[in-house]
Amino acid sequence: MKAQCIIRGLGLKVPKKVVSNADLEKLVETSDEWIVTRTGIRTRCVANASETCSELALAAAGQALDQAGMAAEDLTHIVVGTFSADYVIPSAACVLEHKLGLKNRVALDVSAACSGFLYSVEVARGLIALHPESRVLVCASEILTSRTNWEDRSTCVLFGDGAGAAVLTADAPGLAGGRIIDLLLASDGSLGDLLSVKGGGSAAPYRLGDRVGEEFFAQMMGREVYKHAVRNMTAISQDLLARNRVHKDDLDVLLPHQANLRIIEAVGRKLDIPPEKVFVNVDRYGNTSAASVPLALTEARQTGFIKDGDLVLVTTFGGGFTWGAALIRF
Ligand code: ACO
Repeated sequence: MKAQCIIRGLGLKVPKKVVSNADLEKLVETSDEWIVTRTGIRTRCVANASETCSELALAAAGQALDQAGMAAEDLTHIVVGTFSADYVIPSAACVLEHKLGLKNRVALDVSAACSGFLYSVEVARGLIALHPESRVLVCASEILTSRTNWEDRSTCVLFGDGAGAAVLTADAPGLAGGRIIDLLLASDGSLGDLLSVKGGGSAAPYRLGDRVGEEFFAQMMGREVYKHAVRNMTAISQDLLARNRVHKDDLDVLLPHQANLRIIEAVGRKLDIPPEKVFVNVDRYGNTSAASVPLALTEARQTGFIKDGDLVLVTTFGGGFTWGAALIRF
C-alpha cells in the first residue's frame, strides 16, 4: 500500500454561538427528545455576520499550516469545498487566498455538498500527481445556516456551521501526517431532487424585489436521503476495502460524515465495525456538510481518538448525490 500524498496538517474552526435543542424548541414545534432520538444532535454552532465561510476557513487553515510547519507563502494551490461561499463570485478560494496574503496561486471551489472535502482531496491528489512539488491547502467550510429555513422543523434541527482544513503534499520518507492510501468517489445526479438548494441558481433566478421563497433553503426528503446515505457509504467503503485488500478488522477507526447518529451507527453496523471504533461528534456540531469530515478528522486527532499508526476509513455522502470513501494511515 504505497501512498503518494500525505496530510501534513489539520485544523478546524467553529462559530462561537452554540444553539441547543432547547433554543430550537422556542423557534419551531419540536423537542429535545425528538431531535436526540432521531438524530443524536444536541447542539450546533451558528455563525454571526462576521463569521463567514472564508473567515472560518482562514482560521482552520492557520491551524493546519502551523501543524504542517509551513507558512501561507509556501502554498501553491487553494481548494475549497463548499456550497455556501461568501459570494457567487469571487470564489471562496479566491477570497481565502487574499485573506492569506497571497496572489498568483491556483484557487478554486469544489461543489459536492457534504462530500466536498473528499472531492477536494481528490483534486489535490491529482494536482500533486501532476506537479509533485505542490503544497495544497484543502479547506471545507460551510455556513449552512445561511441556507436553513428556520421555520422548517424537519431540516433546521439538523444543520450547523463550521470549517476544517488540511495541508497536503507529496509523500516522502520521514514526513509526519496522514498518508492517503486510496480514495474512491461516486455520484448520481438522477437523485438530485431528494436533497437540494435551488433558489437563486440560474435555473431558478431571483429578480430585483423578489421575496425569498422556501426553495432558497436546503430541502430534503429525509427518509429517502437516509436510505441512500447508509446504502452508498456502506457499499463504497466495502469496495475501497476490497480493492486495497484491507480487512475490516485491520481498521482502527471508522470516521463517517457526521449527518445523523442513526446513519453513522447503521453504517458501522453494516460494515461490522464495533461502536468504540466509530468517531462521533455530530452531537455537538450537527451536520456541517463539507466541513464535517475535516472537522471530525481534526478533532479525532486532537483528542487522541486517532493515534499515530492508526488506519482510518473515512466515508461521506451528500447532495447531488455524491459520496466517497478514503483510507488514511496516520
Ligand atoms: N421535531 C418534531 N417532529 C418532527 C421534526 C422535528 N424537528 N421534524 C419532523 N418531525 C415530524 C414529521 O413532521 C413527521 O410527523 P408526521 O408523522 O405527523 O407527518 C414525523 O416527525 C416523522 O417524520 P419523518 O421525516 O418520517 O422522521 P424520520 O424518522 O425519517 O426522521 C430525519 C427524520 C431525522 C430527518 C431522518 O429522515 C433523517 O435522518 N434523514 C437523513 C437526513 C440527513 O441526515 N440528511 C443529511 C445527509 S446528506 C447531507 O449531509 C446533506
